[in-house]
Amino acid sequence: MSETAKIELDGKIYEFPVVVGTENEKAIDISKLRDTTGYVTLDTGYKNTGATKSAITFLDGELGILHYRGYPIEQLAEKATFIEVAYLLIYGKLPTQTELDAFSNSITKHTLVHEDMKQFFEAYPAKAHPMGVLSSMVCSLSTFYPESLDPNRSPEAKDLTIHRLLAKLPTLAAWSYKNAMRHPFMYPKNKFSYCENFMHMMFAMPTEDYNVDPVIVDALNKLLILHADHEQNCSTSTVRIVGSSQANLYATISAGISALWGPLHGGANQAVIEMLEQIHNDGGDVDKWVAKAKDKDDSFRLMGFGHRVYKNFDPRATIIKKACDDVLEKLGINDPMLDIAKKLEKVALEDEYFKARNLYPNVDFYSGIIYKALKIPTEMFTVMFAIGRLPGWIAQWKEMTEHNEPIGRPRQIYIGETPRDYVDISKR
Ligand code: CMC
Repeated sequence: MSETAKIELDGKIYEFPVVVGTENEKAIDISKLRDTTGYVTLDTGYKNTGATKSAITFLDGELGILHYRGYPIEQLAEKATFIEVAYLLIYGKLPTQTELDAFSNSITKHTLVHEDMKQFFEAYPAKAHPMGVLSSMVCSLSTFYPESLDPNRSPEAKDLTIHRLLAKLPTLAAWSYKNAMRHPFMYPKNKFSYCENFMHMMFAMPTEDYNVDPVIVDALNKLLILHADHEQNCSTSTVRIVGSSQANLYATISAGISALWGPLHGGANQAVIEMLEQIHNDGGDVDKWVAKAKDKDDSFRLMGFGHRVYKNFDPRATIIKKACDDVLEKLGINDPMLDIAKKLEKVALEDEYFKARNLYPNVDFYSGIIYKALKIPTEMFTVMFAIGRLPGWIAQWKEMTEHNEPIGRPRQIYIGETPRDYVDISKR
């Protein structure tokens, strides 16, 4: 007999099935709750709500485990390339060499964006945040591929949209930076790998080639892999909700990019560096800023600390901390921000406030330091996260469409006024 959960309401007992995942995660299936009892659940911020059954990413926040399609993140970060991981997430298996070559070639073939899109860039102010530009540009791609407005097309047509997105996002991202600098756009080159191409489009000039350092390519591959998926987080849930209305994939991913932008989510990597600079410019008194973070009357939080699901350590942070040390050593960088980061980490890890609340450095505490070492400007950090997260968003969208999930539509508990009569404006 499978396990059930009993809920007693108004003196009556109702039974609901218990669902067990392959990693022994347990959930009470309350999909019939409202129909049978008239009640809904209330869970602001979805802290206890499983929104879907998914076979893509498993994470255990208590044990600090992260797997993509069953493969430990540590092995993927060490041995795979980002494109291989993208294939794994989207298609559910590690590719053979032939499959990987075909996938990689298809992406390489689609890296150019329509020339007319250059005019859009020119219309943005130089100070435009690249995340705003990226989100708008990705949505604008839908206008160049009207056939993609119907997301329920053949698997081949879906694949074409997926490959186009993976191919064009780095081009759009690099061009949003070039545009902000008022530098000429650099076109992608087919001879380069995914990460090399991005660095080329960011840093080469028509007058000068940019020699991509293998240390940088390796670090970039790792960073993108670590960010590639993270199950039902804010931006991924946004992607699933928007996609559930059968909006096209470009609009859906654009919504995910917007959700990622916030400082409590992907925007944290930019916020970390800004915080470190603020502490540095203020004289570097780490204790003072730790005290501010603990003060309930002060809105300041230590950016890059804490996580909704990781309560012991963030496995991505462990990998990235090492990568960060390696990159800084290999590139011979001595950054005062890093000293502040290390002090902050030490103080926070030993402080009762942080220990009691299980607040540890998360992936974004270190990713900003690496991006800075790679000379990626601060405002581009969240864009880098978006490039990394794209395969995860696509995989989650694809899974949702293949499972024919219904449109996302939560309920609420209304706490407003009860019915009252309209009052004429002269009497208010
Ligand atoms: N600095 C100081 N106090 C904190 C912090 C922090 N960074 N994070 C949480 N707290 C405190 C919070 O004030 C609360 O204290 P109390 O119980 O006394 O009221 C307690 O810890 C629990 O916090 P919460 O806001 O209820 O936790 P949450 O799970 O809702 O929020 C979080 C998680 C990541 C939004 C939050 O920890 C935070 O704001 N961190 C800083 C932003 C950041 O680094 N975000 C990147 C997350 S990793 C990238 C990604 O996957 O998106």
